[in-house]
Amino acid sequence: MSYDGVYSDKVMDHFMNPRNVGEIEGASGVGTVGNAKCGDIMRIYLDIDDDGIIRDCKFKTFGCGAAVASSSMATEMVKGKSIQEAMQVTNKAVMEALDGLPQVKIHCSLLAEEAIHAALWDYCEKHNVTIEGLKRPKNDIND
Ligand code: FES
Repeated sequence: MSYDGVYSDKVMDHFMNPRNVGEIEGASGVGTVGNAKCGDIMRIYLDIDDDGIIRDCKFKTFGCGAAVASSSMATEMVKGKSIQEAMQVTNKAVMEALDGLPQVKIHCSLLAEEAIHAALWDYCEKHNVTIEGLKRPKNDIND
């Protein structure tokens, strides 16, 4: 079976050369989410300044290639953005930016959206603030 064309060039690029891999020490918010079905785990670190701008974002993913590509793209999309703008980085937006994902891999991009939300949730809890429209993701497995 050939896999030619299953994944877009952008997905392959972000899978082969993922951006923003790593950790942020003393991050403003850290979010870890897991998908119970495939067992994949994604963690996102956010560094947010006093004006609510996301200065840096890093990720670690124990997961499939689509999850790696999705987290790489998602971190690129939230960097330098305000918290409200980061809330617009949905799995749909990530998928569009990646020029699509196969149907069976859509949940992988959802993990990226949830990891951002979990990190923002952690930020809110640590800083005693609320973000309009933010709910704790159901797959949040932050300790
Ligand atoms: Fe689970 Fe991709 S198969 S995140």
